[in-house]
Amino acid sequence: MKIAAITCFTYLLLLLLTFSSAQDPTQNFLQCLNRHSHDISEFVYTRKNTTYSETLLYSINNLRFAKPDTPKPLVIIRAVSESQIQSVIYCSKKHHLDMRIRSGGHSFEGLSYVSPLPFVILDLVNFKSFSADTKTNTAWIGSGLTNGELYYKIGETSDRLGFPSGLFANVGVGGILSGGGYGMMMRKYGLAADHVIDARLIDSNGRILDRKAMGEDWFWAIRGGGGGSFGVVISWKVRLLPVPKTVTVYKVYRTVEQNLTSIFHKYQSVAPKLPKELVIKADGQSIVSNISQRADNRTMIFLFEALYLGSADKMLSVMQGQFPELGVVREDCFEVSWLQAMVYFSGFELFTPPEILLNITVLPRPAFKSNNDYTQVPIPVEGLEGLWDLMYKLPPLKATLQFTPYGGRMDEISESALPFPYRAGTLLKFNRYAETDTDEAERMEWVKTLARYLTPYVTKNPRSAYVNYVDLSMGTNNLKGTTSYQQASRWGKRYFKNNFDRLVNIKSAVDPDNFFRHEQSIPPIRI
Ligand SMILES: Cc1cc2nc3c(=O)[nH]c(=O)nc-3n(C[C@H](O)[C@H](O)[C@H](O)COP(=O)(O)OP(=O)(O)OC[C@H]3O[C@@H](n4cnc5c(N)ncnc54)[C@H](O)[C@@H]3O)c2cc1C
Ligand SMILES: *[C@@H]1O[C@H](CO)[C@@H](O)[C@H](O)[C@H]1NC(C)=O
Ligand SMILES: *[C@@H]1O[C@H](CO)[C@@H](O)[C@H](O)[C@H]1NC(C)=O
Ligand SMILES: *[C@@H]1O[C@H](CO)[C@@H](O)[C@H](O)[C@H]1NC(C)=O
Ligand SMILES: *[C@@H]1O[C@H](CO)[C@@H](O)[C@H](O)[C@H]1NC(C)=O
Ligand SMILES: *[C@@H]1O[C@H](CO)[C@@H](O)[C@H](O)[C@H]1NC(C)=O
Repeated sequence: MKIAAITCFTYLLLLLLTFSSAQDPTQNFLQCLNRHSHDISEFVYTRKNTTYSETLLYSINNLRFAKPDTPKPLVIIRAVSESQIQSVIYCSKKHHLDMRIRSGGHSFEGLSYVSPLPFVILDLVNFKSFSADTKTNTAWIGSGLTNGELYYKIGETSDRLGFPSGLFANVGVGGILSGGGYGMMMRKYGLAADHVIDARLIDSNGRILDRKAMGEDWFWAIRGGGGGSFGVVISWKVRLLPVPKTVTVYKVYRTVEQNLTSIFHKYQSVAPKLPKELVIKADGQSIVSNISQRADNRTMIFLFEALYLGSADKMLSVMQGQFPELGVVREDCFEVSWLQAMVYFSGFELFTPPEILLNITVLPRPAFKSNNDYTQVPIPVEGLEGLWDLMYKLPPLKATLQFTPYGGRMDEISESALPFPYRAGTLLKFNRYAETDTDEAERMEWVKTLARYLTPYVTKNPRSAYVNYVDLSMGTNNLKGTTSYQQASRWGKRYFKNNFDRLVNIKSAVDPDNFFRHEQSIPPIRI
């Protein structure tokens, strides 16, 4: 009797366990993975693994999405082989889990590592291959490389080659190439994506496709249509581009008391017309200083930082001829290798050994909100003064205005060559950034106020935005069920103008079941 009861109890317990494991998506997913990839378990992290949190945090750049109440993945897979990626796709699909792809983790809205649905992260951090061919000046580069690692490896290959990717060392190759990618050589060479000539992608059926196999439409879409919509890009074949053995750099600061307003006013029309070899970026912040003539002691300070693909003397003669107001002198200028210049523009001291580019723990990781616009005409002086007033409303150093001049090579590429449409006629990319470490709601609101204030001065119909500066305040897909063309156009047209329609058609053909999705992925809709 007793034995029978115990047996019965054990039986019930077993039933219960089986039942609960059948209901547990994590267990089912893990069983599926282990069945399909026998070698995968040491690359799989669940909440039970002691290194789960550190693995999740490893490349989270925006700490706004690293709070205790931020949704966390059920599983993180740091795959090391293509077949493991195929298994992760297969098992996510089979067990209806959302799968987020993470390369460098720099999504402004955390799209690579946060989902409101039960989800897993496919982390490409181990895909760091780099193989250059100096006969053809091309290289296959892994999506898991950071910009810094890429630059370092190019520097090891040759002191006469470079690549026009972004400024910040820790940004991932996977995300930046997926959305276009601009940096200090944009005026000379255009976007990073303009120099992608092949790619290896895994689709929602686990097929591995190169350019030839995916065809020109699909290949067009992955070079700027935004990450997370068209498949997992594992690696990219890119053109490496000639750079001089030494380039010239400078960084100069100007405040309102040093004629910043009139200098910046002129900058807006001059910087996009300079020779292609010269890029001058401008970043503004508000500070407290005793030079201020305001009652609150605040002033605006702008950092003007430049890269010239040539000698200091030549650059100075360009500056004297076209932009003497900035007052750059020989003492401001340094002639360095291209690699050393990339170290400088990543925010490090000029002569820091380039190995710093390989250390992903040194650069700051704030909690922030950021978004952007493009301008086609200079903002008038009174518009700038109103902008400074808005900057004085936040504490010093908590907000930044970042300007990147277009023109040069960007003027020569057609709007539909790649999904990224802001080419000829664009003066500046204008990014706004506010730290949200404290007073989050208030500062998020400030970013909105700033955007509203700028409405008369920036591109309209549609108001422009850069997909790599993803901004969910424009709207989101329905994560369950379908999303209408109308709904997705609210942000889609802003990122891509008319290229959005082509992206939607390609998505409908290559991922009709919408496996690759996130809050602003391209939805499949027949139009
Ligand atoms: C501090 C900072 C500086 C920046 N500087 C620049 C700059 O100088 N120039 C510039 O152009 N941009 C810049 N950006 C924006 C940057 O290009 C985007 O944030 C980019 O998406 C980041 O790529 P990631 O791989 O690091 O990000 P992730 O967060 O890993 O990915 C971004 C998006 O792409 C998807 N994705 C990632 N990898 C893949 C892949 N292999 N295949 C398919 N989809 C993928 C993700 O799912 C996600 O939706 C900067 C961003 C930050 C935070
Ligand atoms: C996580 O824990 C499981 C179960 O103990 C183990 O098999 C796996 O190898 C661990 N993962 C890592 C990355 O150590
Ligand atoms: C500011 O501009 C005025 C007029 O153009 C000029 O006289 C003055 O020297 C400038 N001041 C500085 C600090 O450059
Ligand atoms: C501002 O402060 C600095 C350093 O504290 C000092 O050297 C300078 O003289 C001050 N300038 C004015 C205008 O008070
Ligand atoms: C501005 O600076 C002056 C001189 O240092 C100081 O007396 C005054 O209190 C400051 N004002 C504010 C609003 O901080
Ligand atoms: C990376 O930077 C961190 C912080 O500055 C430092 O503690 C660490 O030693 C560095 N790692 C390497 C390998 O240099």
